[in-house]
This record gives sequence, C-alpha cells and structure tokens, in this order.
Amino acid sequence: MNITIIGAGAIGRLWGCKLAGKHNVQYWTRDHRRQLTIHLSASEATQHTTSSNTFDFEANQETFLARSDLVLVTVKAFQIAGAIQAARPHIAPQATVVVMHNGMGSQQTVREMLPDNPIVYATTAQAAFRPSEDEVRHTGIGPTLLGGITAQGNRLQQLGQLFDDALSPCQWQDDINLPLWRKLAINCAINPLTALHNCKNGELALAQFDTELTNICQEVAEVMTAEGYPVAGSELRQQVDTVIKATAGNFSSMNQDVCHQRQTEIDYISGYLIARAKAHQIAVPCNQRLWQAIKELEKQYHDQ
Ligand code: PAF
Repeated sequence: MNITIIGAGAIGRLWGCKLAGKHNVQYWTRDHRRQLTIHLSASEATQHTTSSNTFDFEANQETFLARSDLVLVTVKAFQIAGAIQAARPHIAPQATVVVMHNGMGSQQTVREMLPDNPIVYATTAQAAFRPSEDEVRHTGIGPTLLGGITAQGNRLQQLGQLFDDALSPCQWQDDINLPLWRKLAINCAINPLTALHNCKNGELALAQFDTELTNICQEVAEVMTAEGYPVAGSELRQQVDTVIKATAGNFSSMNQDVCHQRQTEIDYISGYLIARAKAHQIAVPCNQRLWQAIKELEKQYHDQ
C-alpha cells in the first residue's frame, strides 16, 4: 500500500516506522522538506517489540499523496482542519482516511471536508516521545482501536489487521465512539491535572488527588450515559487508575505542551465534555474548573 502520514509528531513517527516494514510510507508536513529521517529507539517497556533502526522517508510529494490508498492523520485535534485543507487537493476520493488524535470533536469537520472518502477514527494507547528532533522513542505498549464513522468507513474491518501487523495489539470496533469516550475520560482526568501540577502521571496516585479524580470520572460517566454509552463513574475511575499506574513514569502530552508553551488539546478534551454536557443540561463543575485553569495557563504564555 502507499500510505501518507499527515503530521510528524511522536505518534505519527512511531506508526510511520512500524508501517514502513510492509508499505511505502511518506510524510506530509507543514514545512516543505522533501525527505525525513527518523531514528526509532525502544525503552525498557518496549524493547521486546521495537528494535533501534533508522528510516528514510520521502516527504510532501504531491504525486505520492495522489497515489496513496491510505492517509493517516496524526496531527493534534485543533490542527485537523488546516492540515486537511492543505492536503485535500491531492487526496484521491477513494483513499481511506484514518484520523488518530487525543480528544473528540473533529468528526463533523473531517466528514464535511472529505465527503467522498471512507473515514475511520482510531485511538491508541501506544506511547512515544521525541527526545530530539530526529529521534522517536517507543515508550509504552497498549491497544489501538479503529472503526468507521461513515458508511464506507464502516466496511473497512480489514484495516484492523493491517494496523495489527504493523504494531500490535490492534482491533477493529463496530462503534469507535465507545472507545473514544473511554479514552476521553482518561484524558479528562490525567491531562489537565498533570499539566496544572507539573507532575508525572504516576503522582496522581497520591491521596491528595483522590476526590478530584472521582469527581471528574463521575461527571464524565453522567455525560457518557446521556450520550447512549451507560457507564458508572467507578468503572471509569478504575480505568484511569490503571493508566496512571501503567504510565507512572511518563509526562502526559498536556504536561509537555504546557512546559513548552504550546497550545494544548483542552478544547477537544474537557472542552468537548463540557459542550456535550451543556447539550444534555448536565452540570460538570469539576471539568469546567480544569478547562478554565488550562485556558488561563495558555493565556499566560504571551505575558512571559
Ligand atoms: O495524552 C497523553 O499523554 C496520553 O493519552 C495519556 C493516556 C494521558 C498518558 O500519558
């Protein structure tokens, strides 16, 4: 297959290196480089899956994009519209578009911008980070789930196998919105708190965060239930605790965004929850307060 990956962040780089074993892969990026070299390395947690290697990719070749059977979009949620706008003139109408980002709230935009393409959404618990410009380190293993959000996208079950062959475990879902909501709950709990307290995920296991984590999860559970995905707050809390433990040594993506004074994904994480809560007239004061606090932090970037 010819695959174009839009976005060369840590997750996009990890998937590119993994897919390159069996497919022709190029990157589509905001700069106009024609080549991209990536050094992939493993961590203690991933050394049985990932070996160090260097990969050379083509980049930003319009003819390659036009020939791509699959377009994997790994930019942040707030970059989706701009990234698709730039690539759209070269994307074939039959190309499958897979969108993988933290948070929710971009599906309508993608459907409207690419009305003819089969669209699939994905969520991954694989973890990666970039210790330097050229290097990507695979720091954690977890499931990747994919599922269609359009009629044509719903028929692409075989994509589960394609992604699983590249980086296991990976599974096709008949309703991708359920795993997206479950991941949203994890991000609503871990991301803002680790950004505001400038701590690793593992520190959220301290007793001082107990009540707040319970309240966040309870609010998310009420909104999920109203959306047609009934769940108990205690079940979400258990999942959050599992991820806190499994990623104890990692800094969350929002912690890193705030440390580097980059725009965060808060509007697509707590912000999406708040918007859906409003639609169902559900009060979510705890998530509202966290959203507000991160927005305040982002505003302060410009004053420093
Ligand atoms: O955004 C992140 O960092 C990750 O989605 C998660 C699961 C919170 C782990 O750090």
